[in-house]
Amino acid sequence: MSAAQPRRSRERVLTMTGIGKRFGAVKALTDVDFWVNEGEVVALVGDNGAGKSTLVKVLAGVHPPDAGTIEFDGGVVEIGSPADAQELGIATVFQDLALCDNLDVVANLWLGREMLEGRLLDEVEMEQRTWTLLRELSARIPSVRTPVASLSGGQRQTVAIARSLIGDPRVVILDEPTAALGVAQTAEVLNLIETLRERGHGVILISHNMADVLAVADRVVVLRLGRNNGVYNVVDVTSETLIAAITGAMDHSHVQRPMTPPAGTPPSAPSSSPAATTTPTPPNVIDLPKAGSRRRGTRGDA
Ligand SMILES: Nc1ncnc2c1ncn2[C@@H]1O[C@H](COP(=O)(O)OP(=O)(O)O)[C@@H](O)[C@H]1O
Ligand SMILES: [Mg+2]
Repeated sequence: MSAAQPRRSRERVLTMTGIGKRFGAVKALTDVDFWVNEGEVVALVGDNGAGKSTLVKVLAGVHPPDAGTIEFDGGVVEIGSPADAQELGIATVFQDLALCDNLDVVANLWLGREMLEGRLLDEVEMEQRTWTLLRELSARIPSVRTPVASLSGGQRQTVAIARSLIGDPRVVILDEPTAALGVAQTAEVLNLIETLRERGHGVILISHNMADVLAVADRVVVLRLGRNNGVYNVVDVTSETLIAAITGAMDHSHVQRPMTPPAGTPPSAPSSSPAATTTPTPPNVIDLPKAGSRRRGTRGDA
């Protein structure tokens, strides 16, 4: 694993090629291609059972894939465990957030990675770093010494995201971060996602909410029945088109079209894949802009 490479802006961080995963007789993923660049928000959408969670669990080291390759910072890696994912710099905020309600914000952020001073917890340092991180995220948390049980849904999501940033990961995966939130809290979390992009993290956003996806993502990857069913640049796509791709009204999975190589595509990627020998059908890629060229400002500054 090569987690310690120097950071360059807008480079490809992660490339998955020809990923396959079976659970017994169920083909959860078949020949799936996926990538994310630094400073890019990629939405991963699809109907229930499309394979979204399975794909991110492959990245999180929960499910090793049966087929395909994963490249991270240009080198082929195997993510055999959650510890491997963490070491590479892939952080996942699962939908249940996995916070400890009875502990305060500081304790939740540093749980399992507590800072010590001698044999004692360095509470001062942990609290200071918590404030620094929350300030960088422009997060609105009233006190870092409140138990997280007393926080709103949006604040809890913020704490979970802040916690995922402790190791300064290259890729942050968010599974349905706004699913349980009201309008104002959703806007706060979407702003937070934009902050993650500005900090240079590659962000993978699983969402059912097309408005959220269109507001915050740069690119949308559609999965359907465990296969790629379209890759769209958000500035060129409508929610109708996305819904058609999600439901199968628009079937891209068998369409043969030349794939526009996105910015930063490593030329060696397809040939290093075992799937390349079977000439996989590329997903449609519609007019990808150069990374970082878009600022849409659909929501006001918060
Ligand atoms: N641990 C598992 N064991 C057996 N089947 C699974 C498991 N996880 C997912 N699946 C199956 O894989 C397919 C994709 O599921 P999933 O990745 O959860 O889809 P999504 O997150 O898009 O709703 C579904 O058919 C689901 O039933
Ligand atoms: Mg799921």
